[in-house]
Amino acid sequence: MLETVETLIAKLIDEVDYPHAAELFKKLSGGKRLRARLVLTIAPSEPTAPLLGAIVELIHAASLLHDDVIDEAQLRRGVPSVNATEGSKTAIMLGDILYSKAFSELTSFDPRIARSVAESVTRLSVGEMMDVGMAESFNTDRDLYLKMLYLKTATLIEACAYSAAILAGKDEQAYATYGKNLGLAFQIVDDILDITADEATLGKPSLNDFSEGKVTLPYIDLYDRLDAPLKERLVKSHAQVLDEDEKQWIRSQMDAFNIIEHSYSHARSLCDEAIGVIGDDAALRSIVESVIKRSH
Ligand code: FPP
Ligand code: MG
Repeated sequence: MLETVETLIAKLIDEVDYPHAAELFKKLSGGKRLRARLVLTIAPSEPTAPLLGAIVELIHAASLLHDDVIDEAQLRRGVPSVNATEGSKTAIMLGDILYSKAFSELTSFDPRIARSVAESVTRLSVGEMMDVGMAESFNTDRDLYLKMLYLKTATLIEACAYSAAILAGKDEQAYATYGKNLGLAFQIVDDILDITADEATLGKPSLNDFSEGKVTLPYIDLYDRLDAPLKERLVKSHAQVLDEDEKQWIRSQMDAFNIIEHSYSHARSLCDEAIGVIGDDAALRSIVESVIKRSH
């Protein structure tokens, strides 16, 4: 079924009728296709589910193109980002093509689905703006951070689950809650991997978030536990290019306070809650497991 999504994505790009855009798009790595997998898993027999999967993947790809411009990221999924190779203008315009094409296709769906996906993209954009604003100083507000995570990442995954449930005639509120928790757990695991995974696996420099100014959950928890002089040292490293010694120090402090385990258990409890609202569904359980156990 995921192949049908890939075929539809290729067809939609072809319909844009601009070979240069199609060439650039072909060079992007498709990633894990979590959002399309979720739609197909919730609505496996619905004929329009693959199109909805293709739409949300195009929106997601557009958001990453813009995010890499905003973050000035040189790498995406281990390959040079479009802004790095083609420049920021091209990356923005390619993103514009992808999300506007996705929105055109969305108009053929039930208005509740179209509204839910469209509103989630507004929230995504607000979340991105909050993320950038919060990176300007050392944020220690956990709730504010979790609110931003919900907006930046979980909201589109929530809309995917809600929309797929409508397609399949299932309880859309329960599936929305599942999607929201899955999305939050996904981003918390992402934050953890930025600290624990090596650069080859990540496809980007390690501890990149903190260098970009992003004080993710493990850093907020670590800050809470450090004494005053060490708090000061951590804050001094914020938004800096870190040398190996400083990276090592941060990792050793995280180890000393079991910070990573703490963040994992937060992600796991969100996943348990996600499974709790859905009941016994092996495929949805396995999506949750793949999010928690992934290495990149
Ligand atoms: C990655 O975050 C970014 C997002 C999940 C959302 C970005 C959203 C926008 C740019 C809003 C615009 C939306 C559209 C559809 C054009 P990250 O930087 O924490 O993760 P990373 O390490 O993968 O870059
Ligand atoms: Mg980024």
